[in-house]
Amino acid sequence: MTKRVAFIAGNWKMNLDHQQGIALVQKLAWTLKDAAHDYSSAEVVVFPGFTSIRSIQTLIDADKLEVRLGAQDISAQDSGAFTGEVSGVALKKLDVEYVLIGHSERRQYHNEDDAVVQAKTAAAFRHGIVPVICVGETAEELETEGSAAVPVRQALAALKNHETLGDFVVAYEPVWAIGTGQVATPEVAASVCSKIRVAIAEEHGAEIADRTRILYGGSVKAANVAGFLKSVDVDGVLVGGASLDAEEFSGIARFQKHLAL
Ligand code: 13P
Repeated sequence: MTKRVAFIAGNWKMNLDHQQGIALVQKLAWTLKDAAHDYSSAEVVVFPGFTSIRSIQTLIDADKLEVRLGAQDISAQDSGAFTGEVSGVALKKLDVEYVLIGHSERRQYHNEDDAVVQAKTAAAFRHGIVPVICVGETAEELETEGSAAVPVRQALAALKNHETLGDFVVAYEPVWAIGTGQVATPEVAASVCSKIRVAIAEEHGAEIADRTRILYGGSVKAANVAGFLKSVDVDGVLVGGASLDAEEFSGIARFQKHLAL
């Protein structure tokens, strides 16, 4: 089995201006440096809003930080008359390495369906940006279909019809657990992540499934992160609210310390 490097991701959503974003990343990097964080065993990625990306890129570059940069969305188009959209070309130019695709808030408030998510995933692959494909069931779907059916279906739909699959990450975020303080149990999270991996293996082969990182997201905090990451099938976490606090987020990135206890 491939050793998958843990992926600790902070989705800032529509929070923080560029100055607050710089301050947060500086504090995060100092805190992790003080703690002698080993980035080769747990990658730390921030996903600021578009207006902060250039500033964070400049900071990472100037201070040679090991924190990595992601974006919260990408246009399915590469250029042209698409007012308000941001292309993969422009993101790549800013050294953006990862992009969230199909977050439940995009699916819910911007009507992004599986076809849109597939097209945005294709755009990320075209530009050499790693898509972080977000999947998850609503509370109603949990009632009617259980926890794994919807996330598996959404993940497979995003990965359909690509000439070649580049590297990608899948984030399982049950919609009912986002921003609610209501977390999935580590057992449920591990079971859904495992079912997603099995489905990827069936469709795309064991080798791709084995190297793909599959994350849990939804009300993750420093106090509960270790429970999720002790499973071999959960390779990281996608964190919303708790990623806005440098101390808390660095506590999450240092989950291995909690595991050792
Ligand atoms: P919270 O951690 O605030 O529940 O948000 C999770 C999320 O949506 C991350 O993308």
